[in-house]
Amino acid sequence: MKKLVIANWKMNPLKGAEAEKMFIAINKTAESLKNVETVICPPLVYLQSLGQLVTKRSCVLGAQDAFWEHSGPYTGQVSPDMVFNTKARYVIVGHSERRAMGETDDMVNKKIKSILQFPLIPVVCVGETKRDDDMQYVKDVKHQIRESLHGLTHEQMMRVVIAYEPVWAIGSGAKRSCSPAECREMVQIIRQVLADALSNTEYVKQIPVIYGGSVDETNMRVFLDDGLVNGVLVGRASLDPKIFSKMLKIVDKKP
Ligand code: PGA
Repeated sequence: MKKLVIANWKMNPLKGAEAEKMFIAINKTAESLKNVETVICPPLVYLQSLGQLVTKRSCVLGAQDAFWEHSGPYTGQVSPDMVFNTKARYVIVGHSERRAMGETDDMVNKKIKSILQFPLIPVVCVGETKRDDDMQYVKDVKHQIRESLHGLTHEQMMRVVIAYEPVWAIGSGAKRSCSPAECREMVQIIRQVLADALSNTEYVKQIPVIYGGSVDETNMRVFLDDGLVNGVLVGRASLDPKIFSKMLKIVDKKP
């Protein structure tokens, strides 16, 4: 399985021309890599123009969200059909910044089901807001996964990517990133929840579980090697094409 490196540009950059420059710069590295699938998730308004830069060997595009309905009176929303009609092939769902704005597991579940009606890959974000001593955080993450994937067929479940993103480790306010041991513990729990849902431990190996939260060029190799993840979801560090390209090269080199 190729390593998955997903750039979440969030609400950046301010201009479309800048987004194109960033995409082109990152792509110079991305298209030469053998072991990495690079996904760029820009703001929705840039998907169309960046789609024109997509080739067979280039970075792939992803959306940061999509609504569950096809079309209709839903002011401000964008449907998976519309996302698919740009060249995007991934959709981030349930990011903690959206959950903080009121997105529930039930809404995430509806979005995933809608996205899966297209040849799109949902990147389902889960993660606890804090770590406590009574292991409530483990229960919370298990609950998020079960609710988010509720009602999916086995075949549909095999098409998702799970992104473990502890909320306390995300963004400039984070005091520290997750340690590889903390990451590994949760990734094993996530794989177990998936194996239980699929009643199969072999299939689960094909579902990528990635980590996000203060990943940069200094710690990303450690997450892959010791955190047992299949890739990373990168916020801030993906906004600097030089740093992000360096990260891609690090991932491409097999240990
Ligand atoms: P960060 O963001 O890398 O800036 O911590 C990660 C994310 O929110 O996905």
